Amino acid sequence: MRIAVVQTCPLFGQVAENVEAALMAMESRGADLYVLPELFNTGYNFADVGEVEELSESVSGYTLHAVTAFASKMSCYIVYGFAERADKLYNSSVLLGPSGLIGLYRKTHLYFRETLFFAPGDLGFPVYDVPFGKVGMMICFDWMYPESARSLALNGAQIIAHPSNLVMPYCPDAMVTRCLENRVFAATANRVGVEDRAGITLKYIGKSEIVSHKGEILHRLGETEPGIAVADIDLSHATNKRINEYNDLFSGRQVERYVR
Ligand code: ACM
Repeated sequence: MRIAVVQTCPLFGQVAENVEAALMAMESRGADLYVLPELFNTGYNFADVGEVEELSESVSGYTLHAVTAFASKMSCYIVYGFAERADKLYNSSVLLGPSGLIGLYRKTHLYFRETLFFAPGDLGFPVYDVPFGKVGMMICFDWMYPESARSLALNGAQIIAHPSNLVMPYCPDAMVTRCLENRVFAATANRVGVEDRAGITLKYIGKSEIVSHKGEILHRLGETEPGIAVADIDLSHATNKRINEYNDLFSGRQVERYVR
């Protein structure tokens, strides 16, 4: 299958423009699965919860319809991050395909001022079957908790779609370890640019990347420009957890010795 990471530079609050810019970038490179950044349609640096309420959407909102139209036209699958309005406000992502919504994930580990605006995700780490393999999602700061990627791998994910708005420098290199220690592929789609709002300046680090089940960086984008990177990968490699004739990644876990 062909995986694409789409690195964008959203304009805060300009939902239609941000969706259009992402779709234009996607149109430039064919892929089976596109991964877009966290909160790609709204921007990230909300001043207050009122802005989140105003810009959030239900899972069947404007963005889902616009992106599904693209997936139908191009016969592809897409993961993107958005502010979800449900019983509470969540920092969420969806997996959708040519016929619409397939899966929903709600960010478990909230970062920085997100803790003021969003409820922690309550859906665990679900994995979804699509024609080319098993896709799990985690969002940005979830990388910092190895349990996120581990839970997805134990649930059978072959590829982790990882919408992000990274500001700290560590994640792109850390994802090499997340992939290696779980034998999964990962596609981290980050944004670029600076958001200076409500006295808080955030600079996003770019470096969107596709990492293999062996921890190889197949593609890494730059730090300042929007862009798209694709890689042709064989997800079946992520199913075999044998490291050598003596070690199997998962059956070698000493679960009863670990601290819960
Ligand atoms: C982050 O979780 N957006 C850093």
